[in-house]
Amino acid sequence: HLPPVSLLCFSAGGVLAVNMTIPNTLIRGTLGGEALLSVRYNSFSLDLPVIKWQLKREKSVTVVQSIGTDIIGTLRPEYRDRILVFENGTLLLHNLRISDDGTYDVEISITDDTFTGEGSITLTVDESISRPYIHMEASSVLELSENVVLNCSHENGTRTTYRWFKGGKPLTNMTRFVLSPDQKFLTITRVLMGDDDTYSCAVENPVGNVTSLPIRLTVYRRSSLYIILSTGGIFLLITLVTVCACWTPSKKKRHPARKPLTRLYDHADLSPINHTGTVSSY
Ligand SMILES: *[C@@H]1O[C@H](CO)[C@@H](O)[C@H](O)[C@H]1NC(C)=O
Ligand SMILES: *[C@@H]1O[C@H](CO)[C@@H](O)[C@H](O)[C@H]1NC(C)=O
Ligand SMILES: *[C@@H]1O[C@H](CO)[C@@H](O)[C@H](O)[C@H]1NC(C)=O
Ligand SMILES: *[C@@H]1O[C@H](CO)[C@@H](O)[C@H](O)[C@H]1NC(C)=O
Ligand SMILES: *[C@@H]1O[C@H](CO)[C@@H](O)[C@H](O)[C@H]1NC(C)=O
Ligand SMILES: *[C@@H]1O[C@H](CO)[C@@H](O)[C@H](O)[C@H]1NC(C)=O
Repeated sequence: HLPPVSLLCFSAGGVLAVNMTIPNTLIRGTLGGEALLSVRYNSFSLDLPVIKWQLKREKSVTVVQSIGTDIIGTLRPEYRDRILVFENGTLLLHNLRISDDGTYDVEISITDDTFTGEGSITLTVDESISRPYIHMEASSVLELSENVVLNCSHENGTRTTYRWFKGGKPLTNMTRFVLSPDQKFLTITRVLMGDDDTYSCAVENPVGNVTSLPIRLTVYRRSSLYIILSTGGIFLLITLVTVCACWTPSKKKRHPARKPLTRLYDHADLSPINHTGTVSSY
């Protein structure tokens, strides 16, 4: 928390001015939510103050002007039904819009002959972040293969920053773990067995901090490729062996098969029944 900002001054004639206190000069608002731009003032006068709030732009926009809590004149269309001024000068903004983001100047004056109290508050307006998820081309890779790119995706959220975790521990930009400049993408180059782990990303903005569900990256050893093939594809292998075994004898028969008569028998030879000898290869 920032220390209170007190803006006080005395006129040359010793007349006490409005003493304004602003407990917090930076307010973080959420799109659609509300923001309390809180101030209070001290004055020896019991008169109602004139309160003026302005939004700093190239040409400042008057947000509201009031005498005490009574708003003077009509509000600009964009502020209608969204504004409340409290006795202490505080401004409450409802249903925040991204365009409300900015610095607000406040002036409180009691009578024409005293100095006005002045101050300013910065308001940020951000959209809350929806839960991120990691987008990955493939969840299992072969070690030393090409790069794996992890993409930290999310639907909503403004002014987001990203962080990555491997097995729950924060990841930094390292030789093989390269983060894109905005850190939204994590690229693992030349995947190693040690990269077989869970990964998650955290998305943060001024109004939130959301972490994705962890995602698993499975890394296979190069040598294990053959094990996978031989266990997963055992039936494929047996079939291949059988086909090869069947094929070889029929190849041998190619030579005598020159005569059209024996070619007729060739078709029958393709049936494994004729090659009972090959069954032993099981
Ligand atoms: C101004 O207000 C602050 C806090 O309310 C107070 O501590 C301080 O004494 C006041 N100064 C004057 C000159 O009244
Ligand atoms: C001013 O009044 C409002 C409404 O009562 C309150 O919420 C706010 O905290 C007050 N501000 C200060 C600085 O005391
Ligand atoms: C994103 O924001 C839109 C509009 O506010 C909302 O309709 C949608 O549900 C949000 N998406 C998520 C995932 O929260
Ligand atoms: C990241 O993921 C999002 C959502 O799945 C997708 O739309 C986007 O194209 C991806 N970006 C890259 C560079 O892969
Ligand atoms: C990480 O390092 C790479 C290459 O050294 C660089 O291009 C990239 O901007 C760095 N990312 C961050 C977030 O510092
Ligand atoms: C965001 O949330 C994580 C986990 O809940 C926490 O460790 C981290 O400190 C938070 N970051 C900020 C800036 O609040």
